[in-house]
Amino acid sequence: MFKTDTLSSTVSNDIIQVTRLSKIIENPPNRVEILRDVTFSVPRGQFLAIMGASGSGKSTLLGLIAGLDTVTSGSIVLDGTDITNMREDALARLRGRKIGFVFQSYQLVPTLTAEENILLPAELSGSNGDPRPRARNLLDRVGLSNRGHHYPVQLSGGEQQRVALARAFVTEPPILMADEPTGNLDSANGQHVLDLLLQLNREEKTTLILVTHDPRLAENADRIISLHDGRIFSDELARPPVSTGMEL
Ligand SMILES: Nc1ncnc2c1ncn2[C@@H]1O[C@H](COP(=O)(O)OP(=O)(O)OP(=O)(O)O)[C@@H](O)[C@H]1O
Ligand SMILES: [Mg+2]
Repeated sequence: MFKTDTLSSTVSNDIIQVTRLSKIIENPPNRVEILRDVTFSVPRGQFLAIMGASGSGKSTLLGLIAGLDTVTSGSIVLDGTDITNMREDALARLRGRKIGFVFQSYQLVPTLTAEENILLPAELSGSNGDPRPRARNLLDRVGLSNRGHHYPVQLSGGEQQRVALARAFVTEPPILMADEPTGNLDSANGQHVLDLLLQLNREEKTTLILVTHDPRLAENADRIISLHDGRIFSDELARPPVSTGMEL
């Protein structure tokens, strides 16, 4: 893959451009360099897996790209808009339109039903039209059409994560980010959530950024970026199908 010119952000096919990103926490006498000089771009529609040991900076990187945290230096351009020094209210609006986020610990609102949780981002973003049919459609799609009126505590972990996924997608954002979304699930439920993420990536052309420790999850990705001590250690595109040596 060739690198695109990061200056031509508005005409770029890259939906995310991260340039020389650093995150340093100064807490004298301590200074923690969490991310150092991280540069990469994500083409629209790509499924990117971010891997690395615990503490390598994966969640910090995802949080910065999602505008949930402030950078120390460097820049982040989301779909042509430089979010690096954006004001919080403008950033919140942009985040609502561009990004759906799935957390390891689901983070559903306990006092809202599954359906109300899914509706929440649509209501906050004031999107056009009645979002309820879309919420019900998503509930159906994640296999929970009969659980819309259940509260999170009445749902299993796998079911809660599927609600969280429907919530992340209700505004149909062009970017889905997921931080260890299957980390708390058994393998069957983890596979189900991964299948749903893959479906949104392939069928809806949603750009998918998945942080995971699990190589089996990452092997579904188009590309794997590995972090080591806050730096990019490797950045590899998925290999083309390997020859079995059995062909004529
Ligand atoms: N606010 C903070 N102040 C000081 N250090 C921090 C802060 N936030 C994160 N760190 C440190 O930054 C490093 C990276 O943290 P991060 O949560 O991004 O790692 P991670 O790769 O997501 O790890 P894990 O796989 O365990 O989730 C860790 O060493 C962490 O202790
Ligand atoms: Mg993490």
